[in-house]
Amino acid sequence: MKVLIFKTAQEAVDHSAAAVLEQIRERAETVLGLSTGGTMVPVYEKMRATAAGLSFNKVVTFNLDEYLGLCPGDPGSYHSYMRHHLFDHLDFNPHNLHLPSGTAACATQEAERYEMAIKAAGGLDLAILGLGENGHIGFNEPGVSLGSRTHVQALTDQTRAANARYFGTSEQVPRFAITMGVKTIFDARKLIVLATGAHKAAAVQAMRDGPVRTACPASALQAHSQVTLVLDEAAASLFEARAAYADIQGHKVASGHG
Ligand code: F6R
Repeated sequence: MKVLIFKTAQEAVDHSAAAVLEQIRERAETVLGLSTGGTMVPVYEKMRATAAGLSFNKVVTFNLDEYLGLCPGDPGSYHSYMRHHLFDHLDFNPHNLHLPSGTAACATQEAERYEMAIKAAGGLDLAILGLGENGHIGFNEPGVSLGSRTHVQALTDQTRAANARYFGTSEQVPRFAITMGVKTIFDARKLIVLATGAHKAAAVQAMRDGPVRTACPASALQAHSQVTLVLDEAAASLFEARAAYADIQGHKVASGHG
């Protein structure tokens, strides 16, 4: 796992946005895995601001998750989030943009359909992930199978509390979501995990330094050969190997086998 530690959250965001744009520059038909949440808002903002001259028309996207019970027009849905923060601002082809449906008649079938659609697209070239305070990626909550595929997931009270800011109260946050599984995410050819802020420090430590275990779903990524963990100083504050990092070009960098 490659780890990049930046002084500020903005630098970590800028690096992540540039890496996604670089991927699209290299391969116009890139298949992206996309996250939502607060961490990604400035990433999409930066992508919008620095995308001049780059076409997104052939890019294919698959979002990691969507709440169950919310239709695409619901302001709390991830469909709305993506339109608002990214899709409506660039020349994406709407036919290439995929999110799980939160209102399918059968959520389990919808999860299977979504998994097949990712496969039919040739798999994810690059997925950019946020990190839950409880170590979740997508909505894969602690206890999930590390071999899981896209599935219906019950959200923990902690996750519902963390996302209450988008709904008013935690009680208003949907109880279930459809999420790509840990293995679905793991199968991406490249992964960026972005975590900023001191409230993510414990999850970063568990993900990078802890044992691989279902209690921290993100720890499964330790076995991935092409994952970059992008952090600011605050998120890296509990990271054990931090002090051993060499300072390279203004940010600290360490590389495992990735
Ligand atoms: C949502 C997703 C989640 C978030 C995570 C962090 O699509 O994939 O795993 O990335 O909950 O959320 P924030 O950035 O709001 O702290």
